[in-house]
Amino acid sequence: MQAMLLNAFANPALFELGEVAKPSPGPGQVLIRNVAAGINPIDWKTGTGGGPAALQGDFPIILGWECAGVVEAVGENCKAYNPGDQVLGFLNFPNPARCLAEYVVADMSHICPKPAALSFIEAGAIPLAGITAWQALALGGHDLTGKRVLILAGAGGVGHLAIQIAKLHGAEHVATTASAARHQLLESLGADACYDYHETDCLATAGQFDLILDGMGGQVGIDCLTALATDGLLITLPSVTADAVIAAAEAQGKQAQGIRANPNGNQLRALAKALAEGDIKVLIERTYTLDQLNQAMDLSRSGHAQGKIVIEIGN
Ligand SMILES: NC(=O)c1ccc[n+]([C@@H]2O[C@H](COP(=O)([O-])OP(=O)(O)OC[C@H]3O[C@@H](n4cnc5c(N)ncnc54)[C@H](OP(=O)(O)O)[C@@H]3O)[C@@H](O)[C@H]2O)c1
Repeated sequence: MQAMLLNAFANPALFELGEVAKPSPGPGQVLIRNVAAGINPIDWKTGTGGGPAALQGDFPIILGWECAGVVEAVGENCKAYNPGDQVLGFLNFPNPARCLAEYVVADMSHICPKPAALSFIEAGAIPLAGITAWQALALGGHDLTGKRVLILAGAGGVGHLAIQIAKLHGAEHVATTASAARHQLLESLGADACYDYHETDCLATAGQFDLILDGMGGQVGIDCLTALATDGLLITLPSVTADAVIAAAEAQGKQAQGIRANPNGNQLRALAKALAEGDIKVLIERTYTLDQLNQAMDLSRSGHAQGKIVIEIGN
């Protein structure tokens, strides 16, 4: 099968189209013929040797943690799926998932059926970012009813889904930060207030928030602690700066925590249903073919993609 192979960690990482053996599904697994695979910042970060790079095995390695496609074969004890089923999944993270290839093996517990109302591109775009937003906001034990929520980087892959999930789970006021050009779109997704992060001290008049989802980390995450209510919680996504943000929060007598999104087929099923029923929309910045992966990574690395970037692999 064809796959985009990484032969060495580098910054930027360079992937090459190559031929590798098609994997076989083990017990409790399915083999998926990939149709669409979303990419995420974790892909290019891992390509530089960061994030979960050490877990990816020997070179050449194949990255990619989310996909949508068609079940080609099933392993032993895999009664829930049959060849021909359309599925989507956020697979194995942080261990190798290898979605940027024509075929990928998935644990049954990491996938869910693709609702007919979702295209493969939409389905391949939501698993990792959607589960991250879902776990950070909705299923982290937070009661969002009537709460004030702030989403930093609302135009990003996680952020635009988080705005909608927060509203769906009863948040009274959802504010976000983004470039001014994105504000109208984010308001159409449910944001009650948008702040342009290019303006100095842009959150000065925003008030206090019960929950902040920090999609930026580093100094941006630290600076927004002034907008966190004293009994509020900030959840910071970029793991590399999580300790610094948590320490800054503690120094102000406030609470912050990191998160690592975990594959979960049941949560993904609920998310896919919300999309299929029109409660949530996924924004697709653009699609690329598999051999154009390096260009797709460049766009993700720019830090200014609007919504998700998806690799079209088959049909
Ligand atoms: N811990 C976990 O399990 C986990 C899971 C998923 C993601 N993450 C991390 O979370 C972060 C966000 O992921 P993502 O997929 O949403 O990223 P993304 O799609 O690449 O985010 C891009 C967005 O960031 C916005 N942005 C850039 N600078 C900004 C600033 N200073 N303030 C506000 N917005 C700004 C851009 O908006 P403009 O175009 O308006 O500039 C753009 O829309 C990444 O670091 C990722 O690695 C962690």
